[in-house]
Amino acid sequence: MRCGLHLHDLKGPNLTSTILVTGGAGYIGSHMILGLIDRGDRVVVIDNLSTGVREQVCSDAELVEGDVADTELVRDILKRRKVDAVIHFAGSVIVPESVTDPLKYYDNNTGATRNLLAACIAEGVSRFVFSSTAAVYGMPDTTIVTEETPTAPINPYGRSKLMTEWMLRDIAAAHPFRFMALRYFNVAGADPAGRTGQSTPRATHLIKRACQAALGRVPALDIFGTDFDTPDGTGVRDYIHVSDLIAAHLLALDALAGGAESNVFNCGYGRGLSVREIIAAVERVSGNKVPAREGPRRAGDPGMLVADSSKLTRQLGWTPRHGDIDEIVKSAYAWEKHLA
Ligand code: UD1
Repeated sequence: MRCGLHLHDLKGPNLTSTILVTGGAGYIGSHMILGLIDRGDRVVVIDNLSTGVREQVCSDAELVEGDVADTELVRDILKRRKVDAVIHFAGSVIVPESVTDPLKYYDNNTGATRNLLAACIAEGVSRFVFSSTAAVYGMPDTTIVTEETPTAPINPYGRSKLMTEWMLRDIAAAHPFRFMALRYFNVAGADPAGRTGQSTPRATHLIKRACQAALGRVPALDIFGTDFDTPDGTGVRDYIHVSDLIAAHLLALDALAGGAESNVFNCGYGRGLSVREIIAAVERVSGNKVPAREGPRRAGDPGMLVADSSKLTRQLGWTPRHGDIDEIVKSAYAWEKHLA
């Protein structure tokens, strides 16, 4: 992929860092690479290409095809490339799959991260940004979730990520090591410059599936559950534009570089949208009907998950810029069309 806008090399040569991005060929990771390259950082990517797409890795980044669970390989990369910090995306993310194949999730998310962390500790890499998830909260009693809301995951995916957060805390207590765990709500949309987007062919994300249905690439969108305790009975989520999420990662990275203590942050807008509201947005943006059929709930799905992200704004100065749902859908739809 051609990338590197190099519009705002804000940092100048002396402050350039080398960042290892795991899972950089995936949806969020490929956007992260662009965010780093655009501001002048050097990027090394490790990805086993199990779900990621090689072409989505910006050509200004170095791609190592391999597994984050391979401690020796990761140690070699950290040492040779003089890596300053790690941003860890590699893992499995499909909630229902985690219910039917839990060991895959404990392997790919928890076990693999354990090995990656062993490499970091062995090589003295002490800054780590972790891709965590709102799924650690399970089915919260409150409508809006803060970082203080008790963690009570209801599926193996959420548990595999929460276990990783626990590992991070233990390691930070035992070693000179600091981390930021970012708990994502529902990440959506694509790079506004159209350089990358959600490319995983079998992706299950609602907005992607709805765009595919609007384009006639799938016969219909399945609405998973119409009997939730939500205003219109369908699942409610807090959809966050991937560019705003990447901005949060850059802030987290810079905070660690500036000496900040380990911390945990929610990433969302505090706005819940139902499946039906998303369908309406896709129809507005595309001008096409989204054929939909109502069906039963999916295994492991909570009814409602909405973030209170005021801590991220307060402590790291995060200012979301792409929250308008039509803007999110527009970028996702443009990318989906481009994939034809
Ligand atoms: C997503 C993330 C997960 C993250 C979580 C946090 C993915 C694959 N998973 O899970 O990593 O931790 O957000 O909130 O991005 N739906 C349909 N029809 C579809 C697809 C989805 O009705 O074809 C509904 C779901 O039941 C749910 C909502 O849309 O209510 C969002 O689903 P989805 O995009 O799959 O994300 P989550 O399962 O919420």
